Amino acid sequence: MRKPEDELTDLEQRGLLRGLRSISNPNLPTVELQGRKLINFSSNDYLGFAQHPTLIEAATKALQDYGAGSTASRLICGSLDIFHQLEEKIATLKKTEAALTFANGFTTAMGIIPAIIGKSDTVILDKLAHACLIDAAKLSGATLRIFPHNDLNKLEKLLTSSSGRTLIVTESVFSMDGDLCPLSEIVKLKEKNGALLFLDEAHAIGVLGQTGQGLAEKLNLQDQIDFQMGTLGKSLGSAGGYLAASRPWIDLFINKARSLVYSTAPPPSQAAASLAALNLLNSPEGIERRSRLKTYSDSFASPTPIIPKIIGENRSALAASDSLHKSGFLVPAIRYPTIPRGTARLRITLSAAHSTENLNDLKEALALL
Ligand SMILES: Cc1ncc(COP(=O)(O)O)c(C=O)c1O
Repeated sequence: MRKPEDELTDLEQRGLLRGLRSISNPNLPTVELQGRKLINFSSNDYLGFAQHPTLIEAATKALQDYGAGSTASRLICGSLDIFHQLEEKIATLKKTEAALTFANGFTTAMGIIPAIIGKSDTVILDKLAHACLIDAAKLSGATLRIFPHNDLNKLEKLLTSSSGRTLIVTESVFSMDGDLCPLSEIVKLKEKNGALLFLDEAHAIGVLGQTGQGLAEKLNLQDQIDFQMGTLGKSLGSAGGYLAASRPWIDLFINKARSLVYSTAPPPSQAAASLAALNLLNSPEGIERRSRLKTYSDSFASPTPIIPKIIGENRSALAASDSLHKSGFLVPAIRYPTIPRGTARLRITLSAAHSTENLNDLKEALALL
């Protein structure tokens, strides 16, 4: 029988071994790794909300009011009012009839997608869709079809040959490339072919759109997306996942989403921090942070704060990351299977918590690689 040691050796030999590195004092723009303070360009805390006193205060108050944990599934021991307040807020911002929250984005996808489609249906995914979307699609048992990244011709072909209920699954901002999906065209195709659209806005919420709701808001398409998903754990600085949709769909998910029905609800303090973050997002401070983030992304000629530097070979990407570490920056090397083989890269993420000096220093260090 295969031993775990053999698999680990194989990963090591292919430059694909990963490990957990202990960090401390994660107070953007810096973080401590092995006792050394580095400028952190690896976090998805795009607005610097995770350490914001408003979120910390809201979470602390919720700990005092509700206690540390939720103690059971929301369907078993009652559903705490703080989750309903959060869901009402999300539905209002997303311009949908209702919303449902989960412990994180991963379990949102795993609960929702198999509740929409099953064996006699079809799910069509972008090739670069996040692991949670792929796993959820597989779990659904529907026929799985993949189209090359953002390839509308291929998507259309797949749509015309699909059967059963058909669900298109894509991301608005791709997590490892920082590019956008052609959302307006995808919406036209899904309408022409009578399909449903599931849009993961994990890296767009807080970043794009007039009130920071993402790409659907930016393009004024919110009412044409059947399922708007996202996470509360990146730019919103806390943790959790959400799905915004029409009332009947949400009522069905309350009955069918197994990661909701059969899992203890997340701590109420998590919901309180998320609610505080959504309020902060459109305060003068939130608006200023979003605009600063946009200026930073523009300075890298990028539409989003995710900047990939494709290197190709795994070990070369690791070496580039090590070299930046020596220069005082935390920039991760991203390798297969997170991204396709042969496209190992540095993934730089910008935050409003960085200073222009941090950015200029990084640009100088990148030029020396
Ligand atoms: C595109 C995308 N979707 C979903 C998720 C999952 O969200 P969460 O981290 O809240 O589980 C992530 C996070 O890595 C992501 O990048």
